[in-house]
Amino acid sequence: MELERLQQQWNAFGEQDPLWAILTIPDRRGGRWDLEEFLATGREEVDEVLQELADHGLSIKRQRALDFGCGVGRLTQALAGHFDSVDGVDVAESMISGAQRLNPDPGRMRFHHNGAADLRMFDDESFDFVLALIVLQHMEPGLMVGYMREFLRVLRPGGLAFFNVPESFRRGEELPAQAWRAELTLIGDLPQVAPGTSAKVSVKVRNTSSEPWPASAYVHLADRWRRPDGVTVDGTNGWAAIGKHMAPGEEVELRLHVVPPTVSGDCVLMLDLVQDQIGWFGDRGSSPLELPVVVPQSTPATNGSSRTEGNDGEPGAAPTMEMYVMSREEVVEALEEAGALVLDVVPKDRCGATIPSLDYIVSRPVIAPYTRRLRRLGVASDRPSQVRHALEVMADRADLVGFPLSTSRGRLGRITVSARAALRRAMLEVLHRQSEFNRAGTDVIGGLESQVRALQATVNDQADQLAKAEERIRSFERRLRPDDRAAGGEE
Ligand SMILES: C[S@@+](CC[C@H](N)C(=O)[O-])C[C@H]1O[C@@H](n2cnc3c(N)ncnc32)[C@H](O)[C@@H]1O
Repeated sequence: MELERLQQQWNAFGEQDPLWAILTIPDRRGGRWDLEEFLATGREEVDEVLQELADHGLSIKRQRALDFGCGVGRLTQALAGHFDSVDGVDVAESMISGAQRLNPDPGRMRFHHNGAADLRMFDDESFDFVLALIVLQHMEPGLMVGYMREFLRVLRPGGLAFFNVPESFRRGEELPAQAWRAELTLIGDLPQVAPGTSAKVSVKVRNTSSEPWPASAYVHLADRWRRPDGVTVDGTNGWAAIGKHMAPGEEVELRLHVVPPTVSGDCVLMLDLVQDQIGWFGDRGSSPLELPVVVPQSTPATNGSSRTEGNDGEPGAAPTMEMYVMSREEVVEALEEAGALVLDVVPKDRCGATIPSLDYIVSRPVIAPYTRRLRRLGVASDRPSQVRHALEVMADRADLVGFPLSTSRGRLGRITVSARAALRRAMLEVLHRQSEFNRAGTDVIGGLESQVRALQATVNDQADQLAKAEERIRSFERRLRPDDRAAGGEE
């Protein structure tokens, strides 16, 4: 998604329902997050991140941190508990205004709006730590990589960046054609709905097909809205996962938070099942549950101005939240290309069951890696992936070096684990440096050897030519000698 559209969408989220847009828990939609509870999730996450770094034996200077994609400052405020000063930066002006309104300590926390595809507003080497959680996934890989490069530029040598990037969309195997049949029944009455706020509905779902729905098919209940004339009103759907195997004839009760369109009038709420990333049951022959609803006149939103237009111009549309993924190989390659030392890549569920995500722990090395220096010297190298492979093999063969390379908590507690993790890190870094050094040495020796061979060939060639010249001189001498004698006789 290009930057301008990204900015418009997040600005709309920041105006409509910023806390829910940041943490999309269905029953907190419509301004229902308790601010203190929301901020507490940030403290918990930052504590976890710092613990993860400590478990890896990594320490950071606690002077200045950057929270990239800070939203309303959920993580920025938490970081301020550990760093002398923290800067939060976000593409959405509405989010930054929210962050500034909620800022309890403007002397130590500064919030900046940035609509650029880089972080040129910050100097080189000005932060000890960069954090970006649940941010990069919303932009196209090209933009992601650009910001990752910027994280390295603004980090001080030895500084660390911690960010997550989802690696793929996990798609269940498509259900067979005869499995797309369900019966949905509303339990109780439909609650009152109001524009822009969520309402809870309970629904009984029965598998009326002849096929089972395996848990791995990722089937869930979701809502869609349309006008009585059939025009679909777009928006972000609430969803409730079935989350288990359902045999033919089996029933389950699900609770779903539905959010009506932000305009008033007659609407139809359609409750239907979806196979994640594959399709709606209603589009494959099943009958959704359709409930007529009159959406009353809009009342002012609780946490910002209410919008009656989505960014695609459809009345009643909510902004869409797009998701992008990048494979581990691509991210690591881009980081190494930028001169980063990728210290670890840790699977962490930050984007839901169907979007596996990875945490990247990255350092700006104190000494620029040899690969980078060689590249600067114009020496082409395709070796980073080989180094990575070598490190992975070494991690697998760790038993050969006499201590386990595991970070799982052992009986002897965190100290032992941290010591092991520190040893592991140190060993991997030394091996990494050593292999880069060896490689650079091998390249230099290889170059010298071929120069010596070329020189040797030139010397041999010249020796041949010299021998031939001497031979010709001798033959001239032989031919000249009788004439010399004859000339001497005449005298
Ligand atoms: C899901 S929220 C996460 C907010 C914050 N990291 C947190 O965990 O509380 C994503 C945030 O990233 C911001 N964002 C998206 N693209 C951005 C970009 N290119 N530069 C800076 N911020 C961006 C959005 O405006 C939004 O505030």
